[in-house]
Amino acid sequence: MQRKIMAENLIIKGDSKQERYATLLPQLESLVGAEQDEIANMANVAACLKDTFGFWWVGFYRVLEGELVLGPFQGPLACTRIRKGRGVCGSAWAEGHTLIVPDVDLFPGHIACSSLSRSEIVVPLKRGDEVVGVLDIDSEKLNTFDEVDRRWLERLSALMIR
Ligand code: SME
Repeated sequence: MQRKIMAENLIIKGDSKQERYATLLPQLESLVGAEQDEIANMANVAACLKDTFGFWWVGFYRVLEGELVLGPFQGPLACTRIRKGRGVCGSAWAEGHTLIVPDVDLFPGHIACSSLSRSEIVVPLKRGDEVVGVLDIDSEKLNTFDEVDRRWLERLSALMIR
């Protein structure tokens, strides 16, 4: 049987962040649900988040041999490896929960991959209780991320790992 080739198009509606997440999430759920490969899914999710919200940097780090190693991302060049407890990413890994940083200059040990990054959210990806990676999003503006982002991005992160 011939395989159906389908172009993927995102349809995003609404002006508010809440509405945009609400239209994005079901589409990401079917995209990710149709593909087993985690790297392929991370690549598409990073692209869709960047496309929908225009964030400065969106990407994934995976826990590999005891370090966070850069995975699929959209945006400028980034640090390749981050140790547990280091920076916002390594802290979210060590603490096992989402970190919202309204002003990266006020976060002790923040790792500045880009000097233009001003605020950040990092959401752990978990298999059971174990953190196996993080979703990291950076903004070039202060105070970009709040409980709306946390809620939707935690739902999204739960879809990423099987
Ligand atoms: N700022 C992060 C490092 C990763 S980059 O932002 C892409 C941190 O402090 O962990």
